[in-house]
Amino acid sequence: MAKSTIMVIAALCLMSVVGSAYGYDKFFVEGKVYCDTCRIQFLSRVSEFLPGATVRLECKVAANETITYVKDVMTDAAGKYSIEVEGDHEEELCEVFLIDSPRQDCNEIKSEVANLETASRVSLTHKNGIVSAVREANPLGFLKAVPLAECPQIFKELGLNANGTASDS
Ligand SMILES: *[C@@H]1O[C@H](CO)[C@@H](O)[C@H](O)[C@H]1NC(C)=O
Ligand SMILES: *[C@@H]1O[C@H](CO)[C@@H](O)[C@H](O)[C@H]1NC(C)=O
Repeated sequence: MAKSTIMVIAALCLMSVVGSAYGYDKFFVEGKVYCDTCRIQFLSRVSEFLPGATVRLECKVAANETITYVKDVMTDAAGKYSIEVEGDHEEELCEVFLIDSPRQDCNEIKSEVANLETASRVSLTHKNGIVSAVREANPLGFLKAVPLAECPQIFKELGLNANGTASDS
């Protein structure tokens, strides 16, 4: 490894240590909210990003479920949000989940698989070696009540069954 690379790594380590020591821990949890127009629970080319949707960041102590941090934010015109979080939350489980949709035709939160598809875990600590203050959450989608007419075509493109489920094979 080049000497300069080692120097950079050393400097970054020092920065994060110093940052923590002086209480500079600040994170930005960023993500997008979309309307899942084919009810497949992942982004496709016909997904529509949702402005004015509300998501919540919640951190809790894993051992006793005590909630330590809650913040609600709304998505911007592009369906994006950014949540500023103070402090290191290494000892907590932090998740972003869907709260409210601005669209009546697209406001269903899939809940059978509780919090699996509708929530995104984020790590809010520098102690795991991630230097960046920006933490990306997975895109979160509200299900559209009535799927679009082109969904069967989308399923075909994605290699899904005609009803939008994945093949067993
Ligand atoms: C939950 O655990 C945290 C961390 O150990 C502790 O500070 C807190 O007092 C506990 N809360 C309850 C209600 O037991
Ligand atoms: C979807 O279609 C597949 C294949 O045709 C079938 O095996 C599966 O049971 C269907 N699932 C639902 C939820 O209808």
